[in-house]
Amino acid sequence: MSISYAPAGKSGKWDGALDWLQMLTGASLILFMWCHMLLVSSVVISPRLMNAIAGFFEATYMAQVGGPLIFLGFLLHFVLAARKIPFRAEGQKTIWQHARMMHHGDTWLWVVQIVSAMLILVMGSIHMWVVLTDLPITAAKSAARVQSGFWAVFYFFLLPLAELHVGIGFYRIGVKWGFIKDRERDKFKRGENLLTGMFIAIGLITLIRFLFLSVN
Ligand code: HEM
Repeated sequence: MSISYAPAGKSGKWDGALDWLQMLTGASLILFMWCHMLLVSSVVISPRLMNAIAGFFEATYMAQVGGPLIFLGFLLHFVLAARKIPFRAEGQKTIWQHARMMHHGDTWLWVVQIVSAMLILVMGSIHMWVVLTDLPITAAKSAARVQSGFWAVFYFFLLPLAELHVGIGFYRIGVKWGFIKDRERDKFKRGENLLTGMFIAIGLITLIRFLFLSVN
């Protein structure tokens, strides 16, 4: 379900274009998050492999330039999506009533999407700032951060929030772009839950590896 709070009439063409941009930034961030989790989890195979991958991103300036671009894409995606978020109490009450009244699974997914978005906006920004202002990325530095305790707790919350948001976002793009037909929704949702669970498991294994990695 997508509710627009923009004044009627004025929106039209612009709103459609901004909707597309929201989906494109969302799809790019989904691809980024899949790659990000696989790259960070390379530490499980070997810390030297993670260092080599990070070194490659550094040598090609992808970390120095690509990192801030991801940050900007992340903020742009939020600003575009915020057009549809009910920030006022009345709007929130209406959505809540609709979700409860209709027992509609996809409306609940939308509520989860909004709540996770707010938390990810703050936590993701802090995380990117901390990592990008402390380049180069190395397995030892990441392990030291996780072993400090605070960051382990921080990531234990951010990981499921980010993966849930990515999973629901992927499903919603599929429904909106029409590559998920109505009768296939349940099948796709099951596949999507499995994928989300797999990424959370990979993330947890990675965090445990960082916790026990010798940093000396
Ligand atoms: C410029 C973009 C980003 C870079 C360079 C980056 C880099 C890293 C690095 C090096 C780690 C390892 C831990 C550490 O060093 O503290 C990490 C972990 C993590 N990142 Fe990012 N990150 C970026 C964006 C994001 C975004 C946008 C999110 C989600 C909103 C995110 C979520 C996480 C999570 C949940 C972990 C914990 C990993 C795990 O569970 O295995 N990151 N990231």
